[in-house]
Amino acid sequence: MKKVGVLTGGGDCPGLNAVIRAIVKSAEKRYGWEVIGIEDSFEGLIRSGKTRVMTSYNIRGILPLGGTILHSSNKANPFEYVDPDDPAAGPRDMSRTVLQNFGTWGLDALIAIGGDGTNRLAARLFDMGLPVVGVPKTIDNDLRATDVTFGFNTAVTTATECLDKLHTTAASHHRVIVVEVMGRYTGWIALESGLAGGADVILMPEIPYDMDAVVHKILERAKLGSGFSIVVVAEGAKPKGGGVVVREKGGKGKGLDRLGGVSIRVGDEIAERTGVDVRVTVLGHIQRGGSPTPFDRNLSTRFGAKAMSLVAKGQFGHMVCLKGQDVTSVPIHDAITDYKWVPLESGAVLTAEAIGICLGRFTQFP
Ligand code: F6P
Repeated sequence: MKKVGVLTGGGDCPGLNAVIRAIVKSAEKRYGWEVIGIEDSFEGLIRSGKTRVMTSYNIRGILPLGGTILHSSNKANPFEYVDPDDPAAGPRDMSRTVLQNFGTWGLDALIAIGGDGTNRLAARLFDMGLPVVGVPKTIDNDLRATDVTFGFNTAVTTATECLDKLHTTAASHHRVIVVEVMGRYTGWIALESGLAGGADVILMPEIPYDMDAVVHKILERAKLGSGFSIVVVAEGAKPKGGGVVVREKGGKGKGLDRLGGVSIRVGDEIAERTGVDVRVTVLGHIQRGGSPTPFDRNLSTRFGAKAMSLVAKGQFGHMVCLKGQDVTSVPIHDAITDYKWVPLESGAVLTAEAIGICLGRFTQFP
């Protein structure tokens, strides 16, 4: 019986377990392959004792579960691996160990479920001869090769529910509430949740913000009788001519820069320039947790089944993706080119401005 290894890398997101379940079920029922779960992302291919056989029996019940039963890491980069037992040794290239263990453990293929970082690593290992298929995931929805990633719909749903709750308290106290959402360098979560949650201002990385426009919007609302406002800020939003707010620098063996804190700056400036009472709420990892929505469960299930079919066909070096209504695949190298930014001419952007939401700029309608 052939064996396929499965790992989850990068930040977790709702729907990962649904992908794992679909891989295990289709491997068993349709292709007759055995599935080996690899724990803690690529770390499980570097260190022994982190693998287990997965069957449809021992994974039952995981479809609605958030997180990943295989655990994840965004620091397990085999090319710059920092041994947790010897961090002083610094980053080392362990990619050959990955290939050796893969062979020694009798694996025939690998499915790597992850975001841009994980798929980048998968592409490099594919170039070294590893038969790998990628599955894209991220709440940020920032992967260019796929129309949508699973996890995004759940994150938007969670953020929208939070905005609904913040609305009532903001209105009761005539306050401005600034809500920071995730999304890394793109504004998908901010825009979609802000639109669904009735935000008055949405700031996102794609439109460097002008505080004059934000202040104008809040004062204009106050003049018209609405003393409260909801301001949604993507963690990657930046002022015109300024940069993103980095909480912790990334680097070799440390992963990506950690963003966060722009909402405090925005909130302080609004308070100073409008005199309105301001509160700041950072939604943080609540957006990554919880049970996947039906949309995400189904997209995850389709991605998992498709990944297993690529493995069975030997179509390695590919990443599954959604194009329109179809789940298909692209060469993994084409999938990791650049971020998928929110297009400024998209329906959501035009609609937001048409209904008077301030996107951090003065809108001039043609
Ligand atoms: O990429 C998903 C994401 O949740 C981003 O939106 C956020 O910037 C980042 O991961 C947070 O990462 P960590 O869990 O390492 O703090």
